[in-house]
Amino acid sequence: MSGAFITLEGGDGSGKTTQAGLLQAWLEEQGRTVVRTREPGGTELGIEIRRLVQHTEGHVAPRAEALLYAADRAQHVATLVRPALERGEVVLQDRYLDSSVAYQGAGRELDGTQIRDLSLWATDGLLPHLTILLDIDPAAGRERMAGRADAPYDRLEDTGLDFAERVRDAYLALAEAEPTRFAVVEASGSPDEVHARVVSPVRAMLDTRR
Ligand code: TYD
Repeated sequence: MSGAFITLEGGDGSGKTTQAGLLQAWLEEQGRTVVRTREPGGTELGIEIRRLVQHTEGHVAPRAEALLYAADRAQHVATLVRPALERGEVVLQDRYLDSSVAYQGAGRELDGTQIRDLSLWATDGLLPHLTILLDIDPAAGRERMAGRADAPYDRLEDTGLDFAERVRDAYLALAEAEPTRFAVVEASGSPDEVHARVVSPVRAMLDTRR
């Protein structure tokens, strides 16, 4: 069976983690071996980079932030993602290069094309077979986050709603630019309702890769 690389993207509070869990269970029911992972932090080195980029006190210059995410991604793809795909497994990943384009490109107002090129260099050009964009109004996303008792401290979440709006708009523009790679899923509703919307593009993509 050929491997498949699925990424989940979306703003804070869009429900990626919940949907990743439901989708992993569904994929396993289909008989697939799933490697569930995330960025930043999917490798040992990545855990250290995650700590640096998210918890450093004081200012991290936007370009430094972009390079840290790219370094995490390079290590992750080389040591975990590509080997799993070569074994024919499904890699189900919370965030990938589109996060960098949306957060560092649009959010931090760096050049989105350069940020994308940096990630493509870091990963030797690896793009997902399918990217699910969980789209939610940023204000609704923040409300969901506020209800989460375990919400970790995250420097980016200190940013304002205008930041979150820029991130959302950038994601939607990315989806429009690459309609065959992206599936935009309305992320409001119950976990099961959203899961049903997520499954159909996944099923379609897997059918084309049999
Ligand atoms: P995390 O705590 O993993 O939670 P979630 O993915 O559920 O939001 O937070 C990851 C943060 O890192 C999130 O605020 C977005 C940010 N991020 C970037 O800014 N650029 C990137 O390339 C990636 C992968 C993440």
